[in-house]
Amino acid sequence: MQKRTLGNSKLDVSAIGLGCMGMSFGYGPAADTRDMIALIRAAVEQGVTFFDTAEVYGPFTNETLVGEALEPFKGQVTIATKFGFNIQDGKMAGLNSRPENIRKVAEASMKRLRVDVIDLFYQHRVDPNVPIEDVAGTVKELIQEGKVKHFGLSEAGAGTIRRAHAVQPITALQSEYSLWTRQHEREIIPTIDELGIGLVAYSPLGKGFLTGTIDDKATFAEGDIRNTLPRYTEEARKANQALIDLLNTFADRRQATTAQIALAWVLAQKPWIVPIPGTTKLHRLTENNGAAAIELTAAELQEIEAASAQIEVVGTRYTEQMEKSTGL
Ligand SMILES: NC(=O)c1ccc[n+]([C@@H]2O[C@H](COP(=O)([O-])OP(=O)(O)OC[C@H]3O[C@@H](n4cnc5c(N)ncnc54)[C@H](OP(=O)(O)O)[C@@H]3O)[C@@H](O)[C@H]2O)c1
Repeated sequence: MQKRTLGNSKLDVSAIGLGCMGMSFGYGPAADTRDMIALIRAAVEQGVTFFDTAEVYGPFTNETLVGEALEPFKGQVTIATKFGFNIQDGKMAGLNSRPENIRKVAEASMKRLRVDVIDLFYQHRVDPNVPIEDVAGTVKELIQEGKVKHFGLSEAGAGTIRRAHAVQPITALQSEYSLWTRQHEREIIPTIDELGIGLVAYSPLGKGFLTGTIDDKATFAEGDIRNTLPRYTEEARKANQALIDLLNTFADRRQATTAQIALAWVLAQKPWIVPIPGTTKLHRLTENNGAAAIELTAAELQEIEAASAQIEVVGTRYTEQMEKSTGL
């Protein structure tokens, strides 16, 4: 697997990472722990060196899983995790990026991850009650204390990114990016390009839709976030099938899968974008990692650009309330 470099502080990671959230959280019941440990270790064998988790995935259980799975590979892989929520009675209970909470989460996450230092520590969502300078200042102190290596933000706006970066240089922004979620191209991607910050693209498969395996008749388990997403209503899925047809044209031409073309498109946008697809299945892990070898040509990218511009994506990615409060 090729490597990519995130940020001016030069964090080298595999071109495709592994998002671990869905193994414990977000998409229905948690998967079997032993199976997920084997899956994460298989990813290492396939050259993946970049793993994504967060305190709130579970909560806590996903960090514990990732910590156990990656313990034998300490020092050889990069583990990213996130702070920024209150957790009450085992549930997310609003934002909390107060300095004392950031410090508390850092200590607890290190224990669960079985590490002495957090490789990449993101604020999961911007907290309007805490100035971003205080957040960046707290992470700066944790870096000085040797508890954190790199600072990141998730779903932050351009102004927030600039203010935070002035206090503590940001290595990576983690935000949603894929063929059907492109709003960050307007202001945010140019800003991080200018500042030398990498982009970690989450939900690069559109939470599964961009793999072509979810049609308008598909159903989801109880507790699966996709039951509540505007873009996942039956009507929206029917309309958005046009994007799958487009991806399939290129999949046929390149003898690749729909998911691989979706990931290859993300990889082709900038050399400093690293997608972190999530899966609970070994054959899909291998399939997704195969996208690193698919280089779309300039002509193909132009064709995708022109054709996708004709397709109106139906449904917003989150409800308005979820935009700020879920972290999923
Ligand atoms: N910063 C944030 O706020 C935030 C928000 C969301 C996610 N994330 C991170 O980003 C990671 C990835 O995002 P995501 O899991 O939301 O979405 P995703 O990677 O776009 O899609 C994951 C979904 O696609 C399915 N899938 C994966 N590969 C497939 C393939 N080749 N063919 C068919 N289906 C496939 C998975 O199901 P199976 O398990 O059945 O394969 C799963 O339901 C997460 O794990 C998490 O670490 C961060």
